Amino acid sequence: MPMVIRFGVSMEESLLSRFDALISSKGYASRSEAIRDLVREELVRQEWLEGEEVAGTITFVYDHHTRELAHKLLAVQHDAGRNIIASQHVHLDHHNCLEVLVVKGKPKEVQRLAGRIKAARGVKHCLLSMTTTGKHVP
Ligand code: NI
Repeated sequence: MPMVIRFGVSMEESLLSRFDALISSKGYASRSEAIRDLVREELVRQEWLEGEEVAGTITFVYDHHTRELAHKLLAVQHDAGRNIIASQHVHLDHHNCLEVLVVKGKPKEVQRLAGRIKAARGVKHCLLSMTTTGKHVP
């Protein structure tokens, strides 16, 4: 078990009551657990920005009837082939497709790929999720 250290945090009452309401709505059992998650998330974000090799997923939804869009999205993915480890395509309904790409590489490469997908006309939503192996995040 790693050593756990208790420390005090000071903040304005109004800020704390908003924080309590937020973590209660998210189902956290304690402020400590919520603060630990916030710290981990920020460390992951920093690791991403400074990292040599990062991993994550790009999830996006688009209407495959939009002219040339499916071809364009395929071309973008072929251009970034070395960053895409795996992909999954789901036909959500008659119009909409959902794709998930598992990605890795330099932060700038992965962000550029997500940006190109997001910018394609007809893509309704695109989310880049950054994750880590936890090497630097306890
Ligand atoms: Ni489809």
